[in-house]
Amino acid sequence: MIDQFAKDVDAGLSKAEKTLPSKYFYDEKGDALFVQIMKMPEYYLTRSEMEIFSDQTQALVESFQTDKDVYFELIELGPGDGTKTRKLLEVLSQEGYQYEYMPVDFSKNALDKLEQSLQKNLPQVSVKPKHGDYFDMLGSVKDSHHPKIVLFLGSNIGNMSDALAARFLYQLGANLSKDDKLLLGADLLKSADIVLPAYNDERGITRAFNLNLLQRINTELGGSFDLDGFEHAPEYHESDGIAKSYLMSNCEQLVEIKATGTSYHFGAGEKILTEISRKYNDDILNDILEETDFFITARFTDKANYFADYLLNRD
Ligand code: AVI
Repeated sequence: MIDQFAKDVDAGLSKAEKTLPSKYFYDEKGDALFVQIMKMPEYYLTRSEMEIFSDQTQALVESFQTDKDVYFELIELGPGDGTKTRKLLEVLSQEGYQYEYMPVDFSKNALDKLEQSLQKNLPQVSVKPKHGDYFDMLGSVKDSHHPKIVLFLGSNIGNMSDALAARFLYQLGANLSKDDKLLLGADLLKSADIVLPAYNDERGITRAFNLNLLQRINTELGGSFDLDGFEHAPEYHESDGIAKSYLMSNCEQLVEIKATGTSYHFGAGEKILTEISRKYNDDILNDILEETDFFITARFTDKANYFADYLLNRD
């Protein structure tokens, strides 16, 4: 894992326009900061999707079109602390559906916490966690022949470029059977005065989340980043509908990373792109789905129309 981390960091920081992969935000501190982000007044995404899950649980369950007597696998990619899913699990269990819940996460820490909390609060749910990268686990989905409902919530898809999202969904679809379904959470396009504060909150939690990536490189890869030498600099332009998080060097500096054996030069004002968060509408999603076997069969939105959970079926 460390080797891959070092390789990814070196590849990103060696580019003319520097980048770092957002998946490395999520160490123990990053997980805790993300839990705080989800509770922030500015971060409407979680609240909006939670509203859908609370107000429309029954409709969501019905849209799965699963038979109560047929065992199925409920696979969740990137559940985080699983707050939204809990509502669904409760209803599925109350109504006597036969299923097993399989959360897949890159953060072992988040998975362990989720498993413990489910054991405590919903002991009737059988949980089978899988630790790993979403892409790496796609192949193992095929190992079982039970019907599957895959949850990919929270607009996690938005952290991929459209090209990568299409490749990912294509591969996911290729590993599923015809009647399997995907419930995809997508943050909808909206004005900058709503989107930007979600990535630039007043209390500086997102700033700490972004800078933690540099701290992680310092701790795990022997980096020499001076955290005061970088600013959290998010952007959102309505014309492209993608929130972008940057870390901007506030002076000219050289940073050494022992694990990569390299020093990286930063000019004053030079930025590292650390994350993209794509916002969607049906057309954008349909363009992505055109490259895959999936098509939209239902759409659930919150009252403000900020967020949508799309039910996708396979051709
Ligand atoms: C996990 N993901 C969908 C979040 C987002 O909104 O892109 C990550 C995040 N980054 C900053 N705030 C939240």
